[in-house]
Formats: sequence, C-alpha cells, structure tokens
Amino acid sequence: MVSRVIPVKPFDLVIFGGTGDLARRKILPGLFRRFRAGQMPAGARVIGCARTAMDDAGFRDIARAAIAEFGGPERSDAAGLAAFLDRLAYVPIDVTGEDGWRDLAALVRADVVRAFYFSVAPRLFGPIAERLHLHAIADDDSRIVVEKPFGRDLRSAQELNAALAAHFGEGQIYRIDHYLGKETVQNLMAVRFGNVLFEPLWNNHYIDHIQITVAETVGVGGRGSYYDGAGAMRDMVQNHLMQLLCLIAMEPPARFEADAVRDEKLKVIRALQPVDPQDIVFGQYSGAPGSPSYRDDVENPASTSESFVALRCRIGNWRWAGVPFYLRTGKKMKARSSEIAVVFQKLGHTIFDEDMARHRNILSIRLQPNEGIDLQVTIKDPGPGGMRLLDVPLDLTFAEALGDQGEPAADAYERLIMDVIRGDQTLFMRGDEVEAAWAWTDPVIAGREERGDRPQPYDQGSAGPDDALMLMHRDGRRWRDIKG
Ligand code: NDP
Ligand code: BG6
Repeated sequence: MVSRVIPVKPFDLVIFGGTGDLARRKILPGLFRRFRAGQMPAGARVIGCARTAMDDAGFRDIARAAIAEFGGPERSDAAGLAAFLDRLAYVPIDVTGEDGWRDLAALVRADVVRAFYFSVAPRLFGPIAERLHLHAIADDDSRIVVEKPFGRDLRSAQELNAALAAHFGEGQIYRIDHYLGKETVQNLMAVRFGNVLFEPLWNNHYIDHIQITVAETVGVGGRGSYYDGAGAMRDMVQNHLMQLLCLIAMEPPARFEADAVRDEKLKVIRALQPVDPQDIVFGQYSGAPGSPSYRDDVENPASTSESFVALRCRIGNWRWAGVPFYLRTGKKMKARSSEIAVVFQKLGHTIFDEDMARHRNILSIRLQPNEGIDLQVTIKDPGPGGMRLLDVPLDLTFAEALGDQGEPAADAYERLIMDVIRGDQTLFMRGDEVEAAWAWTDPVIAGREERGDRPQPYDQGSAGPDDALMLMHRDGRRWRDIKG
C-alpha cells in the first residue's frame, strides 16, 4: 500500500471527559489507529481528564477496554497497543472547581502543539475555557475542540460562542461536526471542484432537485434524555444535514482554505428560505414486537419529540432558484443509509420512441455504507430487441476503485483530530455558520410548537411516515429507496 500519512508535530492532546462514552467509542480507538499509522510522533501524548479519581494506569485500563470493545482489527496488535498506552496520562479534575489545574499545567508542555478536546456537556465549555486561561495552560497557539450540540437555539449558541471567545480567538476554536470528517463528504468537494464535468451542470438549468437522506437503523440508544430534549431537527438537521446541503449548494471557493470554504457555506445558509409548514413532516417510531417504541426508549410516555424529519426547502439565489432540496433523516428506519442524490432534469427533446421522463441522470453520493459515488446514465438495452433504453450506474465504489492504493478508511473523528493538530480548520464549523444554522432552524421548531403539530407514528424498519412520501409525490417526484 502506498502510505500517504502526513506527519504532524509532537502534541499534547488533553481530553476533558476522557472517560466518557464519546472518548471510549470514538476518540481513543481513533487515536490508536493514528498511532499505528505513524501519526503520533515521538513525544505526542494524550492526557485524559475527568472527575473520577484514578492514576495513569487506571486511565490506560479504560483505554485498553475501550479499544477492545470499539476498535477495529488493529486491536489485536498487542505490542502496538502497549506502546500507545504508554503515551497516555490522566489528571483528575472537576472542571467546575479549582483543584487539579496546577497538576495539568505542570504536565502540559509549552514546546509542543497543545490541543484541548471538550468532550463534556456543553454547560462545561465556559468553565473549562476560563480555567485553561486562568492557569495559563493554554496560550494563543493552543486549540480547543468543542463537541455538539453547540447550543439548542440561536441564543444559547451565541452565549456559547461568547463564552469561548472570551478566552480563545476564532482561529483556535474547532467546532466538530463529524459528518465533515467522513471520507465521501470531502470527496463531494473533490468531485465538484476537481472535475470539469459537473460544475457547468450544477445549477437550476440542469438539476431538477436534490435529495439528502440520513437514515439510521439504531434508535436513541442510551442517550434518551439528551435526545428527547433535542429531537431530530436539532440533533441531525441543524448540523449534519445542513452541512451536507452547504457542500452541495455552495459556490466554488477561491481556494480550498478554511475561511474561503466557510464563507461560501455561510452564504448558502443565509440564502435558505423559511420552511413552509406544509413542507415539513415530523415522525416518531412506534413499538414493534420485542422492540420498544420511541416513547419507551426515552422513558417519556407523552413525548412529542421527533425521531424523524422530512422537509422541502429552497435556496434563494441565482444558482438554485426553483430547485427544491428534500431532506430526511430518521432513526429505526429500514436500512442504515446516508446518501445525497442530485437528480438532473429530463431531456428537453427526445429522438427515441420512449417516455424519456423515465430516464434521468442521477449523481448519487453514498456516505455510508459502501462509500462511493455513482452516476446513473441511460444506455441502449443490449441485444437485438431494437432501440430500447436502460438506466445503468457508472459505479465508483471507493473500496473497489482504489484497490490497494486506498488507505484503510479513517474514521471521521481521527481525521478531524489530526486536522486539529495540523491547525487546519477547513472541516470545522465557524461560529457565524453555527449561528446562521440556528437562525434558520429556530423558526421551524418554534412554528411547530405554536401549531402544536404532533409527530406522526411510523413503523420501525420503514421509510418513515406516509406523509413524508406525500411530500415528494405531490411534486410528482419520489424518494430514492433506502438501501443498506
Ligand atoms: P458522557 O456522559 O458519557 O461522559 C462525560 C464525561 O465527562 C465523563 O468522562 C465524565 O467523567 C466527565 N465529566 C462530567 N462532569 C465533569 C466535570 N464537572 N469535570 C470534569 N469531567 C466531567 O458523555 P459523552 O461522552 O457521551 O458526551 C460528551 C460530549 O460529546 C457531549 O457534549 C455530547 O453531547 C457530545 N457527543 C457525544 C456523542 C456520543 O456518541 N456519545 C456523539 C456526539 C456528540 P466523570 O464522571 O468521571 O467526571
Ligand atoms: C450524532 C447524533 O451526531 O450522529 C446521533 O447525535 C446519530 O443521534 C449520529 O446517531 C449519527 O452518526 P453516524 O456517523 O453514525 O452517521
């Protein structure tokens, strides 16, 4: 395999919440993979912080168990794991108090990249930022990484931004949206801006509509109390789906650079038109034999939170005038499948004796599973049966197309953490972007609350409530099948 690992400088990465679910499921296993890939140079260290009293050995045990449970095939590398665990240290700190910070200050080195991952509840972001500053643990070159949810509405996001800005410049703040770290999401930019084929067609003259689907088979898992207070609109649409929409719809940035890309994304969000109440459907999964309902999962028998949203929105600019964007996301659906489909218009005139409305070019960008891109094209149905037409995919499944040239797919988190160490903010959300996304989302949520719209029940393993299908049918269009 051709190694394309880009070296990084030595670093101290401090993980507040280093023993939590996210650290155990994603961050620690991801760091181990980067270690094995040669991206943790000598002198790079990971320091866990949480309230629980324990020593370095205790934290290493937690990391070992996390990698055994959530790591991939690399977990069988016992020697590698031992070497990685040697890079781990732990400092007990209650971030709302004053103890422990001096110990952390003594451990963190001044002559390496210093990054602080806030993998804790958002209410703790402000206290951590303040104390890192107070105890001179962070300086003007340090980076902080903050997790979602970044607020639950515009006001709380503004407050969070202000709390961080009191101690860190925007160039130091890395707001995670892990969808931006997914391989295919970045490939979307490469396909759009690295090929001559697509950009001339990328507008309302040639595109009929765009569909973005993020379907999950999982329910709300153990995160019921958080999720029930958020719902799919806040949990998925305001961030992940909005980011995908931005990458599809943005103007070409002058360069592939953090602010150039983020400026263009921001313009898309600001051009989004308000969602008409007729154009949105909320759903909640029902119970099935042996599988609890949403309300059982969140232990709230009267919950009206949505585990599914489908909506139609429009972008008010020259490129996209008249092109609907259909977005849907839901839990406990028929398959785990995330896809963006760009559906081109039908031909203006056909020379064939066929209903050409049946034949469309569709560019589909599959985020997961089976990451890849395919372009549906119309060809002649082979054989002697005359000029009959057939739609076939020009399939570029990355695993097949790249063969042994491809790196093993890095998880979004490990890719993003390495970007933090490199100081590259391109795949992170800027404060004004997050606020603009809330400014668009807030009226949708408030409108629903004012109208008292209740979510429509849908069967587990389905494609969501019937009204979501109608959202498309009434426009003479249909959702693409959700296939795993
Ligand atoms: P958990 O509740 O599993 O973990 C919280 C962590 O924070 C623990 O390590 C806990 O350890 C520590 N902690 C809590 N209070 C304090 C305190 N006062 N001082 C220091 N440490 C503290 O949360 P998650 O790991 O699930 O989530 C962390 C963040 O990531 C949240 O913002 C969440 O929204 C976000 N997120 C999580 C995802 C997930 O899949 N889990 C997905 C996307 C985002 P201790 O009790 O020992 O202090
Ligand atoms: C998280 C949401 O941000 O993304 C979860 O909070 C959701 O509810 C998850 O399940 C989906 O991420 P992925 O990478 O599994 O598609």
